[in-house]
Amino acid sequence: MRQPRILMCPPDYYGIEYEINPWMSRSRGSDRPTAATQWEGLVAILRELGAVVELMTARQGLPDLVFTANAGLMFRDRFYSSSFRHEERARESPVFDEWFAAHGFSVHHMPEGTFHEGAGDALFCGDALFAGYRIRSDVYAHQWLAREIGVRVLPLELIDPYYYHLDTCFCPVAPDTAIWFPPAFDAYGQKVIRTHVPKLIACEPDEAKRFGCNAVAVGKTVVTNSGCPRLAESLEKLGYATRNTPLDEFLKAGGSAKCLTLRLDGEEAANWAK
Ligand code: ARG
Repeated sequence: MRQPRILMCPPDYYGIEYEINPWMSRSRGSDRPTAATQWEGLVAILRELGAVVELMTARQGLPDLVFTANAGLMFRDRFYSSSFRHEERARESPVFDEWFAAHGFSVHHMPEGTFHEGAGDALFCGDALFAGYRIRSDVYAHQWLAREIGVRVLPLELIDPYYYHLDTCFCPVAPDTAIWFPPAFDAYGQKVIRTHVPKLIACEPDEAKRFGCNAVAVGKTVVTNSGCPRLAESLEKLGYATRNTPLDEFLKAGGSAKCLTLRLDGEEAANWAK
């Protein structure tokens, strides 16, 4: 079995300093010591599950750098660097590029004038790349990427501003299995997912709000935020082990377990990573 390798960034400068999705409120803010404890809790679980957690250095003025899922998209030794929709996050890209170049990956960029937010909006499940668009990433960027890496892309329109990245409402856990929150997609997107993913686990609205779909699969274990007991039960019925840990401070920025991680060796559900 391959050893999972996950990139994370400590929340040393994490905070709610701007509002670029409906979860974020500057006036409510977040508590940095609590965020640090919660982030450590996630790291500890991932390490217990056998993952190697690579750590980046946090940077002042880049509060969302903790969400490494948005750094870019991984494909073998290639790193396709994100092209962020918002200026506030575009400043993270040089920092991510530097890390990947220094760690032996080839760094690639999206075509000028298109937006793509990395593994936040593009997830492999089996042979296909499921691609969320409209709120953050563009369809054109997904199609360009699919051509580059030679895989089939299945574009899915995201229709609810609370589920603004694909990884907030869709989570492949194996090449034939995914967790999802159907109301985040239009009828066409729902059909595409139903047609291409044989085993689907629907997250209920209250647990979707707890970011149940923003899960991390490590082998046959699925890690989520706390407060998603029905999702855990459904996963366990399908033979998965589950772990949960409180990540509420990160929900305040619109992120949870999955957003805080980037699988460097390819996610469990990606056929190319086998
Ligand atoms: N505040 C960040 C943003 O709006 C949160 C990103 C969460 N990441 C994710 N992959 N869903 O961009």
